[in-house]
Amino acid sequence: MKEQILSFLPPEYPWKDRLFVFPELDSTNNRLKVLASQGAPHGTVLIADRQTGGRGRMGRSFLSPPGVGIYMSILLRPECAPQELMHLTCAAAAAMCHAVERAVHLRPGIKWTNDLVIGKRKVCGILTELAAEADSGMLEYAVVGIGVNCNTDTAARPEPARDVAISLREAVGTAVDPNALAAAMVRRLHELDVQLPEALPQWLAEYAGVCVTLGQDVQILRAGETRLAHAIGIDEA
Ligand code: BTN
Repeated sequence: MKEQILSFLPPEYPWKDRLFVFPELDSTNNRLKVLASQGAPHGTVLIADRQTGGRGRMGRSFLSPPGVGIYMSILLRPECAPQELMHLTCAAAAAMCHAVERAVHLRPGIKWTNDLVIGKRKVCGILTELAAEADSGMLEYAVVGIGVNCNTDTAARPEPARDVAISLREAVGTAVDPNALAAAMVRRLHELDVQLPEALPQWLAEYAGVCVTLGQDVQILRAGETRLAHAIGIDEA
C-alpha cells in the first residue's frame, strides 16, 4: 500500500521518507503520540489497515475494520502556542473535503465540529490532539487523526450505525481506490501545514461555507447540561 500511495504523490511532496503503513495498530493517534514524544519529525504520517482501538472524540470508539477504511494520523510541529491552533480541526475538515472531492468527485458537507457527512450520514471523523511543552507552554506537537469510511458496507452494520454512517463507495456507487484517496489526503494536509497558523481564518471561512450545521436548530452539550440553540455562524472563538 505504501508504494501505491507514494505513486500518487507528486515529486515535490517532501515527506515521502516519513510515511509508514501498518497492517494493524491499536490507534494511529496513540502510536504517533508515542513516536512524537520520542522525537519523530514534523510531517510523519501513520496509516493502518485496521485499528483495534480506534478512538473518536469524547471518549467514543471509532470502528476500524480491515480493508475498507483509511485510518491515518499526521504529526505537525508548527512553532506557535496551542491556542493559535484552536481551529486546526476545522481546517483539517475543510482540507479533507477537498481531498475527497479530488479523489471521488463528490464534496461532503461538514457537521460541527469534525464530521464529514454526505446527506446526514457520517463518512469521516477527525480527532486532533495537542501537546504543550511544560516550561514554555508552546506547542510541542499536534496529531491530527482522520478516519474515512472508504469502501465500508455500512448498510450491513447493526443499527444505529447503519443509519448514521455512509461510505464513499455507497455514496458514489463504485469502489474507491484507498491509495489515491490517502495520497490526496496527505497532499492536502501538507498544503494546510505550509499555511499554518496564519491561514487558519481563511480555512475557517471555507469551513463555514460547507458546514451543514449552520441554519439548523442544535443542542449544545456542555458539562452535563443540554441547551437548545440555533446555529447562525462561526466566529473566531
Ligand atoms: C470522531 O469521529 O469523533 C473522530 C474519529 C477519528 C478517527 C481517526 S482514525 C485514525 C485516528 N486514530 C484514531 O484512533 N482515531 C483517529
